[in-house]
Amino acid sequence: FVVSRLLTHVGKLPPMVQQLGYINRGLKVTVVGSVGGIGQPLSLLLKLNPDVSTLSLYDIKNTTGVGVDLSHINTRATVCPFEGKDGLKKAMDKADIVVIPAGLPRKPGMKREDLVDVNASVACEVAFAASAVCPGAMLAFITNPINVIVPIVATILKAKGTYDPNRLFGVTSLDVVRAQTFVANILNSDPLKVNIPVIGGHTGRTILPILSQCDPPFKGTDEERQALIQRVQNAGTEVVNAKDGLGSATLSMAFAAARFVNSLIKGIKGSEDECVVECAYVESDVTEAQFFATPLKLGPQGIEENKGLPDLDDEEQKSLECMLPILMESIEKGIKLGEGMM
Ligand code: NAD
Ligand code: LMR
Repeated sequence: FVVSRLLTHVGKLPPMVQQLGYINRGLKVTVVGSVGGIGQPLSLLLKLNPDVSTLSLYDIKNTTGVGVDLSHINTRATVCPFEGKDGLKKAMDKADIVVIPAGLPRKPGMKREDLVDVNASVACEVAFAASAVCPGAMLAFITNPINVIVPIVATILKAKGTYDPNRLFGVTSLDVVRAQTFVANILNSDPLKVNIPVIGGHTGRTILPILSQCDPPFKGTDEERQALIQRVQNAGTEVVNAKDGLGSATLSMAFAAARFVNSLIKGIKGSEDECVVECAYVESDVTEAQFFATPLKLGPQGIEENKGLPDLDDEEQKSLECMLPILMESIEKGIKLGEGMM
């Protein structure tokens, strides 16, 4: 067991044995930006997962207080708070999963793209630290603008020789959570029983809920379908405006990110009886865009299978064609920014 524990991180054991190691020792999950509006409730939700044995927290300030507070909760995870100069690498050291809700949120009137200058440097720090101390970790970026941040990180990891496209994710699960909720509200049904893929990216028209594949079926008029799609696409702005200068979605985002991380954990554990599928923004050859969100089957090594594009009706096909140039421009920008950071 001791040997398995030591070697799991250097990947020298066959996958089956590695999985046993994970199940025995539990997983180390690091939250970067753990003191923020998303970071605190996300850390709380992850502290509740019995498969997490170490919950490592990093922020540029006040991590200790949040850490001590969480550490009094009587669940398995040991809470390890870090801050300061060397804190990031210490917090991420040998992590199995790093989830990143760090960076600036929007204020009313701003677009997600307006955050790129500040947030690119945060993502860059995390990418360098991951290459140095946890090259095999699953990295789940929440930091906006997701469409640009993920290509930046991929470019840096590639240059460092530590890129595994199956382990780098832009978290778009809030779009799915919202689509499930809004559809259920209209159908007067249980949101947890609504299944709907949301593909593309995470801004405006690049967020495409595929209503034609909704289960239970959504049979609205064209106007109702259009209104629902636009509500999902503008839901982030709906929250930003409602918070009136106090930031963007935090609680719903923490819920959505915890769901995503819990799915990564189920995948790592290799749950046989459950097919773990989540939508996320990842490197992809499904469309012309190099990064694209589609449903993904998750497994012990991250993405086990990209489920590809769901069947699309004519309107959805047109929307896909409209979004691709927008997405590809963001990706190109991300790759250039990433190259400039090396
Ligand atoms: P926030 O300001 O409340 O928290 C951000 C935290 O990041 C702060 O505690 C801050 O100290 C920390 N931070 C800043 N720079 C850091 C660094 N270099 N290293 C570590 N920590 C650092 O913001 P929030 O509301 O929690 O939002 C965080 C990010 O998540 C924003 O960019 C926001 O746009 C994004 N977001 C994404 C989605 C999504 O669906 N992907 C949804 C909501 C918000
Ligand atoms: C969201 O969709 O809520 C986030 O991307 C935050 C934002 O700026 O809208």
